[in-house]
Amino acid sequence: MEILSACKECIRLWDLYQMYPNIKRHSIAVTKVAFFLANKLNSINHFVSINKVIKGALLHDIAKSRCIKTGEDHCKLGREICEKHGLYDIAEIVEEHVRLKDPLQNGVVNEKHIVCYADKRVMHSEIVTLEERLEDILKRYAQNRPDAEERILRNFHVAKNLEQIIFEKIGIEPVLLSSLIREAKELSIFDSLGEMDEH
Ligand SMILES: [Fe+2]
Ligand SMILES: [Fe+2]
Repeated sequence: MEILSACKECIRLWDLYQMYPNIKRHSIAVTKVAFFLANKLNSINHFVSINKVIKGALLHDIAKSRCIKTGEDHCKLGREICEKHGLYDIAEIVEEHVRLKDPLQNGVVNEKHIVCYADKRVMHSEIVTLEERLEDILKRYAQNRPDAEERILRNFHVAKNLEQIIFEKIGIEPVLLSSLIREAKELSIFDSLGEMDEH
């Protein structure tokens, strides 16, 4: 089964890069959001690769555990890790999951947009609104740092624009996302990934 084999490949890298359990839980929640949105888009003939979305979401924070210790940029290092393991198709998704280089072209939502947006709807492992996530990020990274605050707000507006475009396409209210994901039985496939090992 394609989904499961994509997941297994990612779990192997989680182990190899000693991902912390809380980052695994976060990544699973981001994957559920991203997968849900990608399926909805595909169902209205706006095609995105489910395989790329799943792998990109599961691995978007692959470098985070190491970067917490070393202070390196987890987006850049994440890209390098993907390339090192031949995952060229998701290297850009991982690199741009915090900040998109090309926010949106002609209303065409792609896998990078989906993973970046999904990451902004998940605080720790809980689905929240963009505004709740913004408040948390400002508290953590922008205290007495006007330069950081400006950058974060700019990024928030990009995410808000993305939200409007995605949700208008799929015909859902953004605030309903967490309850819809809770009810979506097909997403339970991702729940056990935190305990799965590579063998
Ligand atoms: Fe991240
Ligand atoms: Fe993340």
